[in-house]
Amino acid sequence: MGVFLGIDVGTSGTKTLALKDDGTIISSATVEYPLSTPKPGWSEQAPADWWQAVVASVGQVLKKGKIKPAGVAGIGLSGQMHGSVFLDRRNQVIRPAILWNDQRTVAECAEIEARAGGRARLIELVANPALTGFTAPKILWLRKHEPRNFARVAQVLLPKDFVRFQLTGEFATEVSDASGTLLLDVRSRTWCGPLLEKLELDRGLLPRVYESEEVSGQLHAAAAAALGLPAGVPVVGGGGDQAAGAVGNGVVRAGVISATMGTSGVVFAHSDAPQYDPQGRLHTFCHAVRGKWHLMGVSLSTGGSLQWYRNQFGAAEVAEAKRTKTDPYELLTAQAAAAPPGSEGLFFLPYLSGERTPHADPYARGAWVGLTLRHGRAHLIRSVMEGATYALRDSLEIIQAQQVPIREIRLSGGGARSAFWRQMQADIYGRKVATINAQEGPAYGAALLAAAGTGAYRDVVEACAATIRVVQHTPPAAKAMKAYAAAYPLYGRLYRSLKEDMRAIAALDSH
Ligand code: XUL
Repeated sequence: MGVFLGIDVGTSGTKTLALKDDGTIISSATVEYPLSTPKPGWSEQAPADWWQAVVASVGQVLKKGKIKPAGVAGIGLSGQMHGSVFLDRRNQVIRPAILWNDQRTVAECAEIEARAGGRARLIELVANPALTGFTAPKILWLRKHEPRNFARVAQVLLPKDFVRFQLTGEFATEVSDASGTLLLDVRSRTWCGPLLEKLELDRGLLPRVYESEEVSGQLHAAAAAALGLPAGVPVVGGGGDQAAGAVGNGVVRAGVISATMGTSGVVFAHSDAPQYDPQGRLHTFCHAVRGKWHLMGVSLSTGGSLQWYRNQFGAAEVAEAKRTKTDPYELLTAQAAAAPPGSEGLFFLPYLSGERTPHADPYARGAWVGLTLRHGRAHLIRSVMEGATYALRDSLEIIQAQQVPIREIRLSGGGARSAFWRQMQADIYGRKVATINAQEGPAYGAALLAAAGTGAYRDVVEACAATIRVVQHTPPAAKAMKAYAAAYPLYGRLYRSLKEDMRAIAALDSH
């Protein structure tokens, strides 16, 4: 029986877990690192921190699980998507990586649309519009704003693919993460020559593209020594964190959707064909399932909004949680439960770092609207959670409007761990929601991809069928569902009413 390692290079830390081929988790470990914001709206990390976290977390997992290194049969990678790692000819990192939640590239997105021959033509070419978080605008930003750095660039890698390079010495990516660069022809699952030409970008800057469960290289001697593993362990393609997370949730066939409340909030739907939203509100990317695609709505600050609340106003809960060895979020949600559904007319717009789905608006700002003397902490917390959940409903609505079947919504992330938030999601979506046995997210999916890619399963669909099952259903409660059905249209209207003012506020701020 083999052991498979799943490594997820996330935004707040890298999580590694070890899996038996029956899907049982042997051990897991997370090692955190910082994120820097050199200017408002910027978001960067040092790739060296990722690699150190990989080495440390793999070491911890092997030790905790008492795993014999020779038993490790495969490694799967997952990671935060879209980030750009720029390497020079000597494979050295040129500058800090620019991350998925960085908003500096508004002008470059406009440039890409113009060069492509318009937004509609761009969507035809790569199935998606240009969004500030994507990789291609970051490359153009570097060319314009740091030309000396750009002149040194020999290779552009995504975060997990930088780790792959450290592990195997190979420049490689896989279809799901490559889709988020905006440079992949998502239909044919290969780099988009015509767009690269229009952007005057050299194809040679980009790595080789694999399917997610294909072996992309083997652990080389130096990496093996650093990790305490034997050389030669196969490393499979893996997936962007959303696609790998979907594998970890068993979202690998039509009709099964996931709603993940992490820092960002994502509604993810499997698709048998490369179907895209002509308005570009959803992302159409390749799935980590061979020859399949997915549609995805991404809201940038859902769990992140509650985290912001905790950091700014939750000092008492954080201290209390430390004293009683509980989770501060449990204390916050217990307070939220004291306010009624709809927070007595208090709305929170969760646009703390701009927004992608459905607005694609880097200037969008967060807001509480409707405050009265009656509102207290319970309402403030509940309204933040409601705003985050309305944001996911926005994505569900658009997915449904694309005629994508929705037979089951599987919850994951922080929003699935809390019974209160599970119920709120059922009430706001107006549908029964499901929870599954595996709650380990992308690292779990990456390990399943490794198991499938190295022969423990025929393919990733079989790996999911053998390891993942629904353990609980939460139906909506009629009264709350009715309250939310009345409030949700107003939530949408508030953004539209405030949109121009948010833009003016952003302009004021940049002076
Ligand atoms: C997906 C996205 C985020 C990051 C962060 O498009 O930008 O979910 O992958 O984890």
